[in-house]
Amino acid sequence: MSEPFYVTTAISYPNGRPHIGHAYEAIAADAIARFQRLMGRDVRFQTGTDEHGLKMAQAARARDITPRQLADEMSGYFKEMADKLDISCDRFIRTSDEDHYAASQAIWKAMEDAGDLYLDRYEGWYSVRDEAFYDEKELIDGEGGTKLSPQGTPVEWTVEESWFFRLSKYQEPLLALYREQPDFIRPESRRNEIASFVSGGLNDLSVSRTSFDWGVPVPGSPGHVMYVWVDALTNYITGLGYPNGGDLWDRFWPANVHIIGKDIVRFHAVYWPAFLMSAKIALPNQVFGHGFLLNKGEKMSKSVGNVVDPIAMADTYGVDQLRYFLLREVSFGQDGSYSHEAIVNRSNSELANSFGNLAQRTLSMIFKNLNGELPAIDRNEDDAALVRTVAAACLDELPRAFEQFAFSIGIEAWMKAVFACNQYVDAQAPWTLRKTDPDRMKVVLGVLFQAIRDLAIAISPIIPTSAGKLLDQMGIAADARDFAALERQGWYDELRASGFVLTQPSGLFPRLELEEA
Ligand code: MSP
Repeated sequence: MSEPFYVTTAISYPNGRPHIGHAYEAIAADAIARFQRLMGRDVRFQTGTDEHGLKMAQAARARDITPRQLADEMSGYFKEMADKLDISCDRFIRTSDEDHYAASQAIWKAMEDAGDLYLDRYEGWYSVRDEAFYDEKELIDGEGGTKLSPQGTPVEWTVEESWFFRLSKYQEPLLALYREQPDFIRPESRRNEIASFVSGGLNDLSVSRTSFDWGVPVPGSPGHVMYVWVDALTNYITGLGYPNGGDLWDRFWPANVHIIGKDIVRFHAVYWPAFLMSAKIALPNQVFGHGFLLNKGEKMSKSVGNVVDPIAMADTYGVDQLRYFLLREVSFGQDGSYSHEAIVNRSNSELANSFGNLAQRTLSMIFKNLNGELPAIDRNEDDAALVRTVAAACLDELPRAFEQFAFSIGIEAWMKAVFACNQYVDAQAPWTLRKTDPDRMKVVLGVLFQAIRDLAIAISPIIPTSAGKLLDQMGIAADARDFAALERQGWYDELRASGFVLTQPSGLFPRLELEEA
């Protein structure tokens, strides 16, 4: 049986429609899931929506609807976005799902059984926007003497009866975790940040609320609902059948990686492992905090009016073009910027003019000059050099980078191989050979056909639909599009022997207009 691999995204608050930051995270996690499948792993991939808490309750009140109505409506848009962007998740979880209540109450009871929960009174600061409690010393000064959270969001003084989790007890075990498993938090800069936060001492955490009721009821404690992050984090195990166990649970827990944004690393790298230690559940292997996506270098906000709907963006540029841009342009882990010009330029120069054109030129020549039949080939040194370049990119550099989630580096290696192919086309000039040396032309086209197939398979986690269409045109069987197939010799001769004939190829990447419509 192949090795299991469980990857998750954060679950988004459906208090409004999804924005491009949500799309970015889903696309990155999807690229990881698809890549791991191509590596032969048995992948489980989960995403979804985080529907409880005060933020949802307030957003619903503002619209005069119930939180559940708001969640139903908005969660639908997140699901629609996932479908639109080809997010290949195995489960789209909603924290209002029935099994999620059972799982959240089970982990609660496990923490209670461990003696880690006690009833007291919370008096302190709370940010509804972050759904987070902050220590006085963490706050920053806002305008007019107001206090803001370290994320710059408003905080309010909150006093209420609350259950507490003995987070302080886990300071040492957490520091030991970061020490012994340095990869638990990536990238490294975020690990250092978290380690220093924890070293500064941990207060016990308020884990229930009594001032509203939109949440998972605390078992045996009427009037209390769980603090939204307790149930939210539990989604990762709900989706595998916790607490009932079963095949998914046995196979996929602990998760390989939780993909999240840098603003919520504390919840995943401090609270979550502490809850799990308390409940005696194994810890995930890794929490990866990616950077933020900025609009032309600026933070997106509704008041600035620069929030872009990812579904509309996918309609404008194409799904694969958007996916490619985000993973190519932004170094994963760091912040990145997008703009209309940047997306159009990347897409036109790399997808349309370089890769698309390479495929289109080659397949058209085979179609027109060889009646679509694949030629037998006998390589010379130039051909062998190209084959080596393409193999190094597709079988070594790209997978090594993707294994580390370094998409931009892997794609760059791939792009270099695409350039090498285009240089080879220019140097060999098959259109001239057609008259001067038709046999040599056949070899050149055959070598290119093989290179394009390798390039298409390797890049398919990033641009699945376009790569799939190209491989369809090329007669590559659906079950021969993974890294094992890339390693396999003999596929080309088998494809020839099968009598495969290319039909008129159709273009993959339309050129985008630079002028904004
Ligand atoms: N509901 C919590 C997560 C709970 S996970 C158990 C939450 N939701 S969110 O909707 O605010 O954010 C969802 C994800 O999108 C987070 O990982 C967050 O970091 C990410 N992003 C939100 N805005 C972003 C950008 N502008 N750029 C990139 N990612 C961003 O937090």
